[in-house]
Amino acid sequence: MKKLAKLAMIGVGNMSGAVLTRLLESPAAPDEPVRVTTRSEASAARYEHNSRVRAQALESNPAANREACRDASVVLLGVKPQQLPDLLAELSDRIAPGTVVISVAAGVETRAIESRLAGGVRVVRAMPNTPATVGLGVTGIAGGASADAEALEITRTLFAAVGEVVEVPESQIPAIGAISGSGPGHVFLLVEQMIDAAMHYGFDRETATRMVVQTFEGSIALLRNEPETEVATHRRRVMSPKGTTEQSIAVLQDANLTELFAAAFAANVRRSNELAEQLR
Ligand SMILES: NC(=O)c1ccc[n+]([C@@H]2O[C@H](COP(=O)([O-])OP(=O)(O)OC[C@H]3O[C@@H](n4cnc5c(N)ncnc54)[C@H](OP(=O)(O)O)[C@@H]3O)[C@@H](O)[C@H]2O)c1
Repeated sequence: MKKLAKLAMIGVGNMSGAVLTRLLESPAAPDEPVRVTTRSEASAARYEHNSRVRAQALESNPAANREACRDASVVLLGVKPQQLPDLLAELSDRIAPGTVVISVAAGVETRAIESRLAGGVRVVRAMPNTPATVGLGVTGIAGGASADAEALEITRTLFAAVGEVVEVPESQIPAIGAISGSGPGHVFLLVEQMIDAAMHYGFDRETATRMVVQTFEGSIALLRNEPETEVATHRRRVMSPKGTTEQSIAVLQDANLTELFAAAFAANVRRSNELAEQLR
């Protein structure tokens, strides 16, 4: 695996902090310390005993972002979407042409980033999800008009440290956000529903949680064990004719689950497009 060179990470909170932690354990980790910036001293202090990270907080050094980007060949922007326009204004004359700039900000299109940076900067967008923290993430990546194959390869290498990477055209990033970005939220909702059902039948929360979490984990393991078998086939194996599962599945399907999911994802994608509109 190719190593990443001269990496700067501007903002390392929940999302890009997870990427950094895993990246440092991966063979793709850069030889030079990763330059990291945060707003507060408290957040930068998490890295003070890590010799492979050079962390600085804006609180004590207002030039920290500009210093971190000097000579960087890859800059990962990990701030909140609303913070991105000011950050790009601050860094526009500091990020040199040729640099690969990767943004994880939901709803900010590559052309909005490209228009605020020097020509020749290669911009890629990434949509990771929180299971990245445990190395089981899914990251959708899309290059802007400025990105070449090398920029996408560098981005792929970076996010491969935290799980699967799926390359898509940028028009599909909102859909990636709905399916895998927001996905953990939807899975947790299903888990909550099943825990509540178990508690309704008298199980205490701890036992109910253990049962449901293991059921999810076991079901996913069955899918992984036979990847060539369709998910619906796995489902039908649990549904003996006139059996119990058939009854509960019928109730769920009668509630137009397919349309309900379609409407839920459409609402998600719509919000993503609204955010993109605001941050264009
Ligand atoms: N969470 C998800 O599921 C998810 C999924 C996909 C994409 N994303 C995207 O990931 C991005 C970050 O989300 P998050 O949940 O990781 O947020 P977060 O935990 O609040 O992290 C933001 C980080 O940026 C730092 N920061 C803020 N302003 C800065 C500035 N001007 N210069 C340098 N550092 C600055 C913060 O420092 P302090 O800690 O000192 O405040 C913090 O380290 C967002 O754009 C979001 O859309 C998140």
